[in-house]
Amino acid sequence: MRRPLVMGNWKMNGSLVANQALLDALAPVATECSGIDIAVCPSHIYLPQVSSICEGSAIQVGAQNMCDQDKGAFTGEVSAEMLRDFDINYVLVGHSERRAIYGETDVQVAAKVEKALQKGLVPVLCVGETLEERKSGDMQQVIETQIRAVLQHSTIKAFAQLVVAYEPVWAIGTGETATPEQAQEVHAFIRDLLAQESAEIAARTTILYGGSVSAANADALFAMPDVDGGLVGGASLKAGDFAAICRAAQGSL
Ligand code: 13P
Repeated sequence: MRRPLVMGNWKMNGSLVANQALLDALAPVATECSGIDIAVCPSHIYLPQVSSICEGSAIQVGAQNMCDQDKGAFTGEVSAEMLRDFDINYVLVGHSERRAIYGETDVQVAAKVEKALQKGLVPVLCVGETLEERKSGDMQQVIETQIRAVLQHSTIKAFAQLVVAYEPVWAIGTGETATPEQAQEVHAFIRDLLAQESAEIAARTTILYGGSVSAANADALFAMPDVDGGLVGGASLKAGDFAAICRAAQGSL
């Protein structure tokens, strides 16, 4: 049985005051939703603050990105060991905004996944197609290529530890969510792809859906058999909305 996971990706939002208020409001929700895992991913600069606030609570902390190198002359980068220094559990890898705006390639994403695993972090491998790719019938090919890059670099064994997040680019920040059926179709496709390598690992891999997840649509999305939780952007900045999404995941048990 896969344990549901709800992650908030705060992106480049937040402040010392706002983070504290949000986490104060979420603390009881995390205690209430004891059957699921909950994590928040603040901007790097707030990781020490958020990690310290969440110490001893049921809320885990993730980073939004990391470097694929150990240390040295990589100005502006943050290493996996630095994240470990602050008790960070998860790291988003290959978010579509990193791929589209900062040109991250499948090869770099695969290297980051491998490095995160080596250092004891749980990578959250983000995959997803653009609207053009979906319309032109290339959706499955695009997602398969993104997944295969990691299979090639790290083998199926990586998928026993990492989390996959399916985030259709056209649904991110647009208010347009994939229907539960559209999400299920792609999640099942990803699981089938992994099952070609190991049915046992594929059955255990957590696959999150991301893209305009809201309090209104979370129940229906999480009711799908291959949707194991959500990677939530905008709604994770509002305590009430994020709480409702966590409760929807708890209710899907
Ligand atoms: P929204 O929930 O704001 O669409 O963002 C999704 C996302 O990119 C999470 O990583």
